[in-house]
Amino acid sequence: MNSMYGRNILNLTELSKEEILSIIKLAIEIKAKPEAYRGILAGKIIAMIFEKNSTRTRVSFEAGIIQLGGQAIILDSKNTQMGRGEPIKDTANVMSSYVDAIMIRTFSDQMVTELAEASSIPVINGLTDDHHPCQILADFQTIYEQKGQLEGIKLAYIGDGNNMAHSFLIGGSLVGMDITIATPKGYEPKAEIVTLAKENAKVSGSKIEILTDPEQAAKNADVLVTDVWASMGDESEQKERAEIFKSFQVNNRLTAQAKKDYLFLHCLPAHRGEEVTTDIIDGIHSAIYQEAANRLHAQKALMVKVMAKL
Ligand code: CP
Ligand code: NVA
Repeated sequence: MNSMYGRNILNLTELSKEEILSIIKLAIEIKAKPEAYRGILAGKIIAMIFEKNSTRTRVSFEAGIIQLGGQAIILDSKNTQMGRGEPIKDTANVMSSYVDAIMIRTFSDQMVTELAEASSIPVINGLTDDHHPCQILADFQTIYEQKGQLEGIKLAYIGDGNNMAHSFLIGGSLVGMDITIATPKGYEPKAEIVTLAKENAKVSGSKIEILTDPEQAAKNADVLVTDVWASMGDESEQKERAEIFKSFQVNNRLTAQAKKDYLFLHCLPAHRGEEVTTDIIDGIHSAIYQEAANRLHAQKALMVKVMAKL
């Protein structure tokens, strides 16, 4: 049986290096031959709960499950009993008797952990305050397609120490990528996630660095990544952050530090002229649309792994 069948994907710590690579390999195979996987999830249903906005995650999961022969039920938590305070445990038990998997996008990681613990079906994190594992799988697929490897790649993430930074730290340290994060003081990734990444890095042989100098971080990078300065939930700090993060913009001065053939990634949505200049995000080094397209393929691979016995 497929060893990932029935597993939760909450923050990538539940996966080994080999498992991450096997998802990416399958994603590349599904992308090349989608017809070979049509019907593999026939009769399977994924419920998707959204407490935060989404374009890519929602559409790519729904299109993906349809292409695999299954169906999605989209729930806006405000319109469910969860929005009126029904206990997570009850929601988890009830949903487990109707559908085959849950994808959730919400604020609290604690809530998602409780949901997963009380569910007998896989729970997939479609973004929380602290993690964005599905995005990382698509990003790793893109890096693999562009650079032919993950191990030994130097990835520099410049900006807020947010969910994306955390997921790069965990995923990158597992697969053997060198991860450098540069943030303004006070916006560093969470200490426990940095510690975990450093532990992983001892095994994979990668290097983890947390800096406050973006130029130093970008030095010799194969991949430059940024994300919005104010994530969903931080909107009220937008103005204040725009001032604090000014020198962390990915622009020509910063990219000059990276390798000549550097790749630029951004999970989108982006604010051109804030975290990245238009010439960089729309320039020849940018793979943002390939990256977004890979959400579909990476998540199809992930759903096959956790929802199909094979
Ligand atoms: N990158 C990403 O998760 O996009 P959405 O917020 O549109 O789902
Ligand atoms: N860090 C961003 C990612 C959006 C896909 C946020 O959480 O809003």
